[in-house]
Amino acid sequence: MHQSEVLGKAMRILIIGAGYVGLSMGVILAEKHDVLLLEMDPSKVESINKGQSPIFEDKIAELLQNAIQSGRLKAQSPEGPLGYRDVVMVCVGTPSREDGSVNLSYVDDAMKLLFERVDEFCDNYTAVGIKSTVPPGTTKTLVLDKIEKGHFTDRLGAFFNPEFLREGTAIEDAKNPDRIIIGASNEKAASLVQRMYMESLGNKADNILTMSLESGELCKYVSNSFLATKISFANEIANITERIPGADFDSVVKGMAADSRICGKFFGSGAGYGGSCFPKDVSGLIMLAKNDLNVATHILQAAQRVNAERPQRILDFLKEHVSDIKGKKIAVLGIAFKPGTDDIRESPALKVMKQLSDNGANVWAHDPLLSRMEISEDIKNQINLTESINECLKNSDACILMTEWKEYIDMGLEAITDTMSNKLLIDGRRAFVNRDIPSGITYRAIGRPN
Ligand code: UDX
Repeated sequence: MHQSEVLGKAMRILIIGAGYVGLSMGVILAEKHDVLLLEMDPSKVESINKGQSPIFEDKIAELLQNAIQSGRLKAQSPEGPLGYRDVVMVCVGTPSREDGSVNLSYVDDAMKLLFERVDEFCDNYTAVGIKSTVPPGTTKTLVLDKIEKGHFTDRLGAFFNPEFLREGTAIEDAKNPDRIIIGASNEKAASLVQRMYMESLGNKADNILTMSLESGELCKYVSNSFLATKISFANEIANITERIPGADFDSVVKGMAADSRICGKFFGSGAGYGGSCFPKDVSGLIMLAKNDLNVATHILQAAQRVNAERPQRILDFLKEHVSDIKGKKIAVLGIAFKPGTDDIRESPALKVMKQLSDNGANVWAHDPLLSRMEISEDIKNQINLTESINECLKNSDACILMTEWKEYIDMGLEAITDTMSNKLLIDGRRAFVNRDIPSGITYRAIGRPN
């Protein structure tokens, strides 16, 4: 398809699920298209229609306000009228089950709703697809088979279009994708999705890769699993460089990445990966391989194990300097799984705080977005949570940096340690590795020998 054929005509888009992905994509697509967002949480529907983002994402506020004011974006409950649509995209959650397999019930529910209402949203031809991360074969089962069984093949086409958005930079990432993957059941469905992006992103949609539904689904898992494995490899190398006096992790990485076959990006050692994606997707791929394919996943399971050991590595550093933490005040800076988000799902900080408290420490924790965080009652009962960095740090026997927020980096080591009883900083995210360490401060960074 050529760019010239498509520019200018707004398309009619339906997105089901107004979470990080659905809302981020909705506000971007609404710059050019007419977007209806179905969301089952009435408070989210209300705040979106008032132009107030229910999620904390850089650059989303202005885009949402413009989209609502222009009338090109509207949120409503699933029961509301759908209107005719060219593309329907399901962006609901696919959380891990207890055993690590993927819970597809929300996707299934969304598809049931759609297939009961085809005449409502399809006037000519509609591409119906999934953006949520789902195991290979899901789109065929939940979409394509339903199209065929319902005899909708002349009106509906199936697609899978993964997102590669990082929390905290979702808008940036969506506007500047490295690639757009379109798994599709036929050319007509693929070209509708392709047109949607070309209209919205213009020349930024210059790397559109079309493939089978199953290849698209697997590509998403493989991308996240490789990134997670890369982080665990970095952490394994850090475990080694920490024990070789004179070895410097950054120099080793620089030397390694000078090989044009090796990319040094995303090779940051530290407290390990958290969030709602890497842990879930690595588990999902492992369970798929084990339960459905009977294939061994030695590397993925090793990556998972290395990551699971990161909190203990941080605590080992602490123990080298504070042998008995019972009753000691330990300050933890950062609870979010990464800077730029209020999301604490699978955050390594929660694991470190819990282990400190379970071992008798008097734990204080701060995060710039604490007031927006959904902290569980048992963490609240164990940890002193404060919105004051100074209250967190005052008279503490050690400080552990768990999230590399700009606020902490800008403060600098002297200000952070100024009121501490024992000026010990364990840098779980290597935020200060390139700084000179003022005298009187004991500084330990992941990857660096003592
Ligand atoms: C990730 C993928 O990057 C994104 O493409 C996908 O769509 C969703 O999952 P996200 O989890 O939001 O995005 O954040 P990301 O920036 O990838 O960080 C994930 C975790 O890895 C964080 O806990 C972060 O602290 C950690 N990380 C990241 C490292 O430990 N080292 C690194 O070098 C990079």
